[in-house]
Formats: sequence, structure tokens, C-alpha cells
Amino acid sequence: MKILFCIVLLLVVKGAIIVTCPKSGYGCVTYGANTIIQTTRTNSLCRNGYYWNNQACMPCKNADIVVGGYYTCSAYYEGTSLTCISGYTLINGVCVQIPLGCTAYGLNQNSDAYVCTACTSDYTLKAGVCINNRYCSSWDDNAVCTSCQTGYFLNWDLKFASISANLNNQSDWINTWQTYYKFPGESFCSVCSQTMANCKSCNSAYTCSQCNDGYYWQQSISSTQLTSSNAQFAGSCVSCLTSGNCSTCQGSSCTQCKTGYYPTKDTTNTVILSCNLCPNGCLTCTSSTFCNDCYASFYKYTDNLCYPLNKCASINTQLTTIPTTPKCSSCIAGYALDPSGTGICYQCGNCDSCTIPSGQQTASLQTSCTTCWDTYYGIKDTNGIVTCKPCTQASDSFLRCQGPVENSSLTGVVPTQCQDGYYLYTLPASGTTQAQVVCVPSNQTQQCVTIVATSATQYTCATCTTQTKLYTNSQCLACDAGLTNTLPQGCTACTGSPTNSIACSACAVNYYFSTGTTTTCTACDVNCLQCAAGPTCTKCAITYYVSGGGCTQCGVANCATCNAQTPSSCQVCLDGYFLSSINTGTVTTSYCLKCPFECATCSAPGQVCNSCISGYVLQNGGCVTLSSANCAEGYTASTLTNQQNPTTQNGCAICKYGFYNFEKRCLQSVQPYAGAVYVPKNIGIGSNPGVSNYETIMYSIFLIIMLLGY
Ligand SMILES: *[C@@H]1O[C@H](CO)[C@@H](O)[C@H](O)[C@H]1NC(C)=O
Ligand SMILES: *[C@@H]1O[C@H](CO)[C@@H](O)[C@H](O)[C@H]1NC(C)=O
Ligand SMILES: *[C@@H]1O[C@H](CO)[C@@H](O)[C@H](O)[C@H]1NC(C)=O
Ligand SMILES: *[C@@H]1O[C@H](CO)[C@@H](O)[C@H](O)[C@H]1NC(C)=O
Repeated sequence: MKILFCIVLLLVVKGAIIVTCPKSGYGCVTYGANTIIQTTRTNSLCRNGYYWNNQACMPCKNADIVVGGYYTCSAYYEGTSLTCISGYTLINGVCVQIPLGCTAYGLNQNSDAYVCTACTSDYTLKAGVCINNRYCSSWDDNAVCTSCQTGYFLNWDLKFASISANLNNQSDWINTWQTYYKFPGESFCSVCSQTMANCKSCNSAYTCSQCNDGYYWQQSISSTQLTSSNAQFAGSCVSCLTSGNCSTCQGSSCTQCKTGYYPTKDTTNTVILSCNLCPNGCLTCTSSTFCNDCYASFYKYTDNLCYPLNKCASINTQLTTIPTTPKCSSCIAGYALDPSGTGICYQCGNCDSCTIPSGQQTASLQTSCTTCWDTYYGIKDTNGIVTCKPCTQASDSFLRCQGPVENSSLTGVVPTQCQDGYYLYTLPASGTTQAQVVCVPSNQTQQCVTIVATSATQYTCATCTTQTKLYTNSQCLACDAGLTNTLPQGCTACTGSPTNSIACSACAVNYYFSTGTTTTCTACDVNCLQCAAGPTCTKCAITYYVSGGGCTQCGVANCATCNAQTPSSCQVCLDGYFLSSINTGTVTTSYCLKCPFECATCSAPGQVCNSCISGYVLQNGGCVTLSSANCAEGYTASTLTNQQNPTTQNGCAICKYGFYNFEKRCLQSVQPYAGAVYVPKNIGIGSNPGVSNYETIMYSIFLIIMLLGY
């Protein structure tokens, strides 16, 4: 018996628990409880991609495998809708990662390339691509920067010397711009402060138009003639207070200090001599002893200074005599105020909110929880004080639970959700024994979704996974030789029940059904795809032909189809081979010769591919990889082994982000650093990806694959 157990890898990554189940999903039952403690108490919480079936968390389709998202479902290993996680968006039924700087991502108008239709503020949309502004604030028609953001200047020195390049030639563009932009991140906009310290905005490398707050422009006293190499001598931004922290200058004198600093003035009380840091906790002040206002976690005491609030949400001014140990009139979350009027806040234990019951204070003052944390339950002592304990302290198998504190109709602690590997079950009342909620260990050798009790201690499976059926001994089995070898090979349908043994009721096409004392499925001959009792073959595998109720190999090597009349003359060659024949006057001999690698089909004399194998696209009669063709999706080639999706299309169907589709080839849309636009004006970029026919078709195909696969 092939043991179908769940291999569970528990990895704790940033507080999230990742469970890796076998790809098929078989054997992965009762895993996926969300054990991360929630801020609010929630019962029966399952992780993303799992659903609660009232007994345990069960996986949806491809739980933990889907890239960038997860399915939601209400039945085992099914998926009703795909939800994409942050940073991903749903396109053609899959979660696709959104490129940097892009806020709306999808297919373009023609549905032949991925484009962005909106960008974040530090990116600019050009030809469907979000390119980093790189401090540029306006662009011309070719997306060449024409003005820079504040603090940057348009650096003409960086523009390429001669516009000799043929602007209609993409290779020329790439070469020119690549020589120009030696380093990624460079742009026409250079930062003012790089050449002029403390310059806020400038028109060129050495002409500051505005200095930073607290600085003024001081013309150079140098008499040296100004040249490009000594241009910096024109002047510099100088602090109007040598000690710094001034915010406004008038000429070379400071008239106002930065926020959080107070001025020291001269004897005439007009000139600011220095700007000094306000006392601790002060937002603004007028002197070292007078705060106007305080930071959020501070309060202003009667001495006009700011002190930490500690655990107080508000201060009891009557009680507070020592400013460094404030007395509270209310507490911050997670703390309770002593009702006896001490103004002290006490920390709650294992709960978000608590009280201090009046009249219950003892030497060791105790808080009483009002609501326990998730996965905790409350215990009330004789004084009515509620403390919270983890549910695992009531039982190892409990994950979430309730006790008399949470639910007055209870007398003990009962689970509301069990740990992974257990089912939640309510044993019905029997005789004098009351109904009881228990956690029952799940049976990993079974494909069991829900269980039912047969006695107070015995459980059997009630429902199986969709891939299996419930049979004798309440086992969940599948009529699939790959899943279990306890069933006859070749069975496609079985009959049976918890009290009857399994019997074949239908056979696979390459098996024939025979009834006698027992019904069996007997395999057809090797190479026979379909046979009747006898057995007589009615359909042979590829490279074979039907002859005398059996299958005989075609006379020509690598021949896919031939007929019984002329078995030495091939009609169709295998994928990757082309038909060639030599006529010697009386006899025609055919050969199947090999196509170049990566060709799914080719025609004589074999050098030209007609279609490519999966992962390749046809370009100029040859096959190149999808990625080297900058293609996200190619067309599926029509071949012998892939006749479900016949198509005459070749080349790229959908281009990668940053590329546009030109006659099924993917060409770069913009130069990523400069943002120079390559895309011809007649290629639709689309303002809104919307839902096109192509998307609908792709999504339908996706749905069909889903339905066939599961
Ligand atoms: C484009 O430029 C490249 C490189 O400079 C050159 O080899 C090619 O012939 C040019 N193509 C056209 C159509 O001008
Ligand atoms: C501003 O004041 C702080 C604190 O007094 C000091 O450390 C800092 O150096 C001052 N800034 C400048 C630019 O001098
Ligand atoms: C309280 O417990 C009773 C008895 O077990 C149960 O029927 C009821 O649903 C519980 N109430 C809540 C709010 O959980
Ligand atoms: C688990 O399976 C074994 C053998 O299939 C069976 O004996 C046992 O009773 C099962 N346990 C439960 C809890 O279903």
C-alpha cells in the first residue's frame, strides 16, 4: 500500500507559517489552521488557500503552490476564485507580478503585450512602461527630459554631442543611448548640491538660484576670471549662523530658528546670535525653560517643560506632583487604571483589555481580563479575577477554545478549532453522558475530509476527498492504479460501499472488460490503444498499424502513420521529422528525416521550421527561446502530439513588459534609463487594458485546463 502521507515543512518566515504539501494535493488533509495570534479573537481561522469544513482546515486547489496568490474554496482541492496577494494582479487567470513603479498592469488594446497604464509619482508612463523620473519634471515628444525637479538642473553636458543617430533606427538609438548612459541611474538631471553645497535649486552646475533654508548666497571675492573649470568660485551657499540651525536668513543675519530650536539674541534683542535645541520632549519652545507644545508621547507639566506620558493616555493633574512619574486619569491600550485612585496603570495579562475590579485589590494588585487574546481562554478565580491561558494548556490538540468565561453555558473548556492534524467533532449525547466537543486525530493514510463517530471512542470516515471514494473499512480509495495497488488495474469506475468490497464497473480504453465469476479489466496488447474482448485491437499506437487484430510497426523508421496496404510507405512522420521520398522509377521509398532541434515540425528539405517545441517561438524560420525573443507567451504549435489546440499562428502572442508586439515579434518600447520611445505611433498602447476577446479566450482555456486537471 502506497502510503499517502503529508510531508509538511513548517518554516517560520516573518511570522507566517508556510506548509508545503505534495504537488498533487493527495494526502494533505487537515493542514492549514492559522496559528498566528490575531489581535482580535476569531474562531476557526484558516490560512489563505484553506477552508473550514466545520471539522478542520482543508486545502483549496494548489494551496501554497500558486505564485503570487491563493484560491478560496468551500470544497476539498477546488478553487472558486484566485485572489492575488499585494504586488500581483490577476491577468488571464494567473497572478502576475506588477513591475516597479506601475499601479495598473494588464494587456494592451491588442492583447499582444503586457503594459502599464498608470505609474506612481516617481515614475512616468512612456509607451506603456513606467520609467523612473530620475528627477525630470517634463519631457518632449520623444520622452527626452526638458526640465528637472527642484534641487536638480538639466545637465546639458550629459547630452550626447552629435545627434548623428538615425532616429528611426532602433539599433542606432540603443548604441547612442548606451554610450551616453554609462551607468544605470544617470540622467539629464544632476543634483544641485553635488557641485554646490546647501543649494536648494539651481539653473546650472555652478549657479545657485536659491540656497537651503538658513543659508544665503555669498558672491566670491575671487578676482579670477570665471571659466568652466573654476566656475565654483562664483560663490557659495553660506550659513547665516556659524553654529547652524537657522531657518530664515535676511542677508547674512538669521531672523528665525528652525522648528525645535529657540534663539539667543544680542543685547538689543534684534540679532539672533545662536539657535539652540529645545528641551527634551518639546516640539517648539521659546527658551530652555518654556515649551509651547510637546511631542505626542509627552505631556506639559506646570513647570512648562515636557515629560514622558509613560502608560497614561491622559494625566491626572491633581495627583501628579512629581513630573517624571505622572499619575494617570486614563491608560493606554493593554493597561487598566487602578480604581482606588492612585493614578497608576497596570499591565493586562495575555489580553488586550482588562479591568481592576474594585474591592478586589490585595497587596499584589491584579488585573482581570475582559477579552483574552486569540488562542487563549479565560479562567475566573474565587475573587472573580479573570486570567487568560493558552488553549494548549487545556489540551495539546486544542488550537482555539472557549470556557465558562467566554460562554456561560459551558462548564469546562471545549475546543472551537483543533491543531493541524486533528478534526473537531461533537460527540452526541448518549444516555446520561452529555454531548462533548473533542479533537480527534486525523488519519494520514486516508483521504478523509470529514469523520463521524461510530461509538464514544471509534471514528470512521464520513466523506472522502473528490479524488477518492468511500469503500469497505471506511477507507477512501481511488480507482486509479497510480494511487493505490489494492484496486484492479485499468478500472475507471468502481462500485462499493463501506459494507461491500470494491468491484470494477468500467475499464480504461486500453483495457477490455470481461465478466465471469469476477469482473476484471484486462490490458490490450502493448501498442494497442483500443481493443475488444478477444482481444482484437481496433486502434494502434502511433508508429503502428492495425493488422490481423494486432498491431504491427510501420516499415519506415520514425513514421507516425502508415496503412496496412503499403506499410513501407509513410504517410505522416513523427513530430520533429519531415517526410522525404526517393522514386526509383518503379518503387517509391519514403524516409522520415530529423528536423533541426527546437523544431516541432518542419518541411523538406528540413532547414525551415514550421512550428517550434514548447518554450520556443518561430522567428525567421528558426526557433528561439521565449525569453530571448522577449516573449511572455507564444502560440501553441499544432503537432501530432498536440492536436487539441490546432493553430496556424507562430511567433509571439504576448510580449513581455517593456516590449511591443510588431508582427508577432517583440521589440523594446523604451530605453529604460532615458525613456526614449521606440514604439511606432500606430502600435496601440491602450489607456485601459480592459477585457478583450483574447483575454476571454485565454481565460476559457485556463478554465478548461483547470476542469480537466482536477
Ligand atoms: C541601423 O543601425 C545599425 C548600427 O548603426 C546599422 O548596422 C544598420 O544597418 C542600421 N539599419 C538601418 C535600416 O539603417
Ligand atoms: C544644530 O543643533 C544641533 C544640536 O544642538 C547640533 O548638533 C548641530 O550640529 C546643529 N546643526 C548645525 C548645522 O550646526
Ligand atoms: C456556547 O456553548 C453552547 C454549548 O456548547 C453552544 O451551543 C454555543 O454555540 C456557544 N456559544 C458561542 C457564542 O460560541
Ligand atoms: C486510521 O486508519 C487505520 C487503518 O486504516 C484504522 O485502523 C484506524 O481506526 C483509523 N483511525 C481513525 C481515527 O480513523
